[in-house]
Amino acid sequence: MIIITGITGGIGNYLFNAFSEKGEEVIGTYHLNKPEGKQYSGCKQLDITDPEEVETFVKSIPAASKNITLVNCAGISYNSFAHKSDVTEWTQVINVNLTGTFYLIRAILPLMREQNSGRIINLSSVVANTGVIGTSAYAASKAGINGMIKSIALENAQKNITINNINLGYFKVGMIDTVPKEMQEQIKNKIAVKEFGDPENILNTIQYIRETGYLTGSCIDLNGGLV
Ligand SMILES: NC(=O)c1ccc[n+]([C@@H]2O[C@H](COP(=O)([O-])OP(=O)(O)OC[C@H]3O[C@@H](n4cnc5c(N)ncnc54)[C@H](OP(=O)(O)O)[C@@H]3O)[C@@H](O)[C@H]2O)c1
Repeated sequence: MIIITGITGGIGNYLFNAFSEKGEEVIGTYHLNKPEGKQYSGCKQLDITDPEEVETFVKSIPAASKNITLVNCAGISYNSFAHKSDVTEWTQVINVNLTGTFYLIRAILPLMREQNSGRIINLSSVVANTGVIGTSAYAASKAGINGMIKSIALENAQKNITINNINLGYFKVGMIDTVPKEMQEQIKNKIAVKEFGDPENILNTIQYIRETGYLTGSCIDLNGGLV
């Protein structure tokens, strides 16, 4: 069973539909944009920054669900020079990308520990490790989850639970739409394969992580050879 947050986003939506088409049991969550279509009828509204909502959501997972994979896909970005940034917007990026991701992990771990099984996969970013102008909040939030998983991996390694991140480069869907076209061309020039990633690569990497129990506390770079 697979839980995917942020299924109204470019990547989350791709993953939700791809896993559903493979016949997997998928529970998707959205925040402000309710998805239309019967395939989304079981999806839940969830603000991951609200710890009580997160607890209630986890309690609603059917008791019969086994071999749970949680894919933390919900995320936001905020572009601003640090010295001009709005503190509320800056802090909201940390609240969603780091603290909200933590709330979900914290809430689902007791169930996974009880089941002696679990996979947690967070979508992080190259920006955690590279300097990109205007991304201090986003970079801090993603670097935060890259550090956070090291501890959680150790705490749960004896329980057949792994936690890993995928440090994404730039993909064809989702947040890339907010990047101006001329900047998109500059970014492409820095990617060895000279194109944005197809989200199928993320699907394949998630499958690899699910099947590889010896992999935990790791961040996998998935970026087409970005320099
Ligand atoms: N696309 C890329 O190239 C790229 C590169 C590096 C990393 N990433 C990471 O990959 C993940 C998915 O990216 P994306 O491009 O698909 O993003 P996106 O298109 O901007 O979608 C973001 C998703 O997050 C949800 N969300 C926002 N605030 C939320 C909250 N408070 N509670 C719950 N859900 C919330 C949104 O829900 P609603 O629409 O319903 O409000 C939406 O489904 C993100 O973590 C992002 O940082 C993406």
